[in-house]
Amino acid sequence: MLITGGAGFIGSHTCVELLRTGHEVVVLDDHSNSSPEALERIAKVAGRPLAATYVADVRDRRSLNAVFTAHPIDAVIHFAAKKAVGESVRIPLAYYDINVGGTMALVSAMHDHGVHRLVFSSSCSIYGNATTVPLTEESPAAPTNPYASTKWACERALADLCQHTPELRVSALRYFNPVGAHPTGLLGEDPRGMPNNIMPFLTQIAVGRREELKVFGDDYPTPDGTGVRDYIHVVDVADGHRVALDHIDDEPGMHVFNLGTGRGTSVLDLLRTFEEASGRPIPYSVTGRRPGDVAELVADPARVAAAWGWSARRDLAAMCRDAWNFQEQNPYGYAP
Ligand code: NAD
Ligand code: WQD
Repeated sequence: MLITGGAGFIGSHTCVELLRTGHEVVVLDDHSNSSPEALERIAKVAGRPLAATYVADVRDRRSLNAVFTAHPIDAVIHFAAKKAVGESVRIPLAYYDINVGGTMALVSAMHDHGVHRLVFSSSCSIYGNATTVPLTEESPAAPTNPYASTKWACERALADLCQHTPELRVSALRYFNPVGAHPTGLLGEDPRGMPNNIMPFLTQIAVGRREELKVFGDDYPTPDGTGVRDYIHVVDVADGHRVALDHIDDEPGMHVFNLGTGRGTSVLDLLRTFEEASGRPIPYSVTGRRPGDVAELVADPARVAAAWGWSARRDLAAMCRDAWNFQEQNPYGYAP
């Protein structure tokens, strides 16, 4: 099994789940947004080593060739991508190059080496400014920024390739808002610089690295006026990949699944649950809306439940507790 981006936030937790269930795992990661230390910790948590690790760019055909030649790869999970929405507005070409170009280079190498199973990281952001929630996989895609557009472009290209390549099997998983960390406190989210997402912001405030949370708007048409999201524990997301692989041969072609809990949480609900879980007060002030934000994004997780009998198990308190546990044990993330 090859995992691109395996040293990253979701990739590292997925490596652990797959090692624990007996898979041989090869990781390819250029560490543009991760630390090699995460790879050491994966082996520690799983109690087994990775089969091999490659420091390489997923667009590099020579490295891909070397990986597929050296190892008996039967399936690929493709996490490697850039994921910062704001940055994607500033440097859209880099997002197309890495996210779309990287996916095409990978699929092309898979084709050359007779590998036909792919689990692809997609995103709830493809739904854009949703008008009805919860979102089913049939809800229209309407990306509102270049990052989301690259994920939607990959989904369309993969669906088209599947139509014309009978042996290809693709599971595209649209994650909602993955948060939390491994309960051991050894693996977690370690963003570089200022966090873009709310959970690492909360944990960094609690550990004393930042002053207060800016709540981006309290005038949305939601129960308390703040944005509502479907937060899902990263270990559940990782487990979803294990199950996706178990089911990838069920049917030919491309299949798309939401990975969410189906439960909506507002910014203030999350803040209060985090305060309880961490025992730390979180100062906050309300500011204006963040450009591009939407009021509410919540998954309808029925398709994945029907297809695989799978659903997310961990609640918001566990997400907050585990995120805090990682930050408390690693105040500066993977840095020494
Ligand atoms: P992450 O940045 O922690 O992990 C991505 C990994 O890919 C990093 O280790 C990075 O070094 C590596 N990488 C980036 N570009 C690369 C390249 N060109 N070649 C090789 N390696 C490269 O991000 P994550 O949160 O773990 O996200 C994983 C995937 O899930 C991404 O595709 C992301 O778009 C998608 N996703 C994430 C979220 C989220 O909120 N975290 C939500 C929906 C979808
Ligand atoms: C959550 C809520 C903010 C920070 C992003 C990507 C999406 C997907 C998941 C990759 C919102 C509010 C946030 C802060 C705040 N990633 N907030 N103060 O924007 O739902 O989704 O991650 O595919 O593509 O866009 O996540 O964590 O940034 O925000 O009030 O300092 O918290 O307005 O309501 P988002 P987030």
